[in-house]
Amino acid sequence: MLILKGNIISSPKFGELSIVEHGYLISDVEGKIIGVFSTLPKEYDGKEVKDYGDKLIMQSFSDMHLHAPQYPMLGMGMDLQLIDWLNTYTFPTEANFKDNDLARKIYHRLALELIKNGTTRVAMFSSLHKEATLILMDELEKAGVCGYVGKVNMDRNGGVDLEETTEESIKSTNEWLKECKFTHVKPIITPRFTPSCTNELMEELGKIAKEHDLPIQSHLSENTGEIAWVKELHPDCKEYWETYKKYNLWNDKTLMAHCVHSSLKERTAMKDAGVYVVHCAASNNNLISGVAPIKLMKKEGLRVVLGSDIAGGDQLSMFDVVASTIKASKNRDIMDKWESGFLSVEEAYYLGTSAANSFFNEKEGFAKGNKLHCLVLDDSDLVSVRPLSVKERFERSMYLREKDAIKAVISDGRIVYNI
Ligand code: GUN
Ligand code: FE
Repeated sequence: MLILKGNIISSPKFGELSIVEHGYLISDVEGKIIGVFSTLPKEYDGKEVKDYGDKLIMQSFSDMHLHAPQYPMLGMGMDLQLIDWLNTYTFPTEANFKDNDLARKIYHRLALELIKNGTTRVAMFSSLHKEATLILMDELEKAGVCGYVGKVNMDRNGGVDLEETTEESIKSTNEWLKECKFTHVKPIITPRFTPSCTNELMEELGKIAKEHDLPIQSHLSENTGEIAWVKELHPDCKEYWETYKKYNLWNDKTLMAHCVHSSLKERTAMKDAGVYVVHCAASNNNLISGVAPIKLMKKEGLRVVLGSDIAGGDQLSMFDVVASTIKASKNRDIMDKWESGFLSVEEAYYLGTSAANSFFNEKEGFAKGNKLHCLVLDDSDLVSVRPLSVKERFERSMYLREKDAIKAVISDGRIVYNI
């Protein structure tokens, strides 16, 4: 059980911020939120209160798309577009994760960095290597990161060093599923993207997802060259999304990264099926893919969450991801002649936090019954010419994104970081 005291900030709805100044955030012995209170309820009199003074206590982040084996190539190859970037930098880097010692070292570091940056839930791609994927899950579990990790499936177009046969891919996926025995880190079916998977493999993955009731993650309509390639590979499909739908990889527990160039038809198909768009603003900018129309997608009623997409994205911090999301949406508004609108700080923060809660079967914000995921931020070092409101301090923290300002992180009701 935890009783935290401070300025409690959460996003109960898209565009809404709930602020309880000098309030109490209480979770039970299972780590579930009991509630947010402006005064301490009588029944907790005498219990230990973790008093964070004037600090901000806010929902921690869910990074719903990132590639763990790309962590050691952050900020590299950024002048290339997607397919060249994959072939020149990404695939050769990921191939190294056949080495379990290397995997242990890098994934240990990544897991700690996620927590230090206030990311407590993830949907993550590993590489195609089963052992390294289990090591990654183990390191996340130990560090206190919750969520989903996928052993990547790719049986074509990976080059000699990063390809499985169809049989190997299916066999090692089944073995991996048997060996996944973690409490907070669960498996997710992960066909890399259509150009990486034969029809036979896609069909089998759809069956495995259904049989084990597992979520699915992949990439969709990120880059125009990629889209043209998918058309060549699947002449029977008019649009990219149909290549997933055809093999039962398209439902309300599916995460599709990017969707930069999705047509109205593709967006409607996502909305109808409840597929999540994972917006990765920095990556789309770095790889010159385009600027996704997120404001429009929200108006159309799509489910949108955020991803750092490292190493297409160059920063692991979700503070940074939220800030790049806002900036991308402003660029999109300008491109649309100021007709589409842009995302406010509150809206982008919602996308980086509460929007993913439904994927984890939870309600938005600090709702009663949700597992407690939060961070404590100390912004007292910043200068200003007048006293700032909590809302102004919150906005500043999103833009200034100072990692050292994070003083404590709570994941699934456990204090996993505290300085
Ligand atoms: N499409 C297929 N693989 C990848 C990847 O690793 N990163 C990005 N950004 N897009 C992809
Ligand atoms: Fe990606």
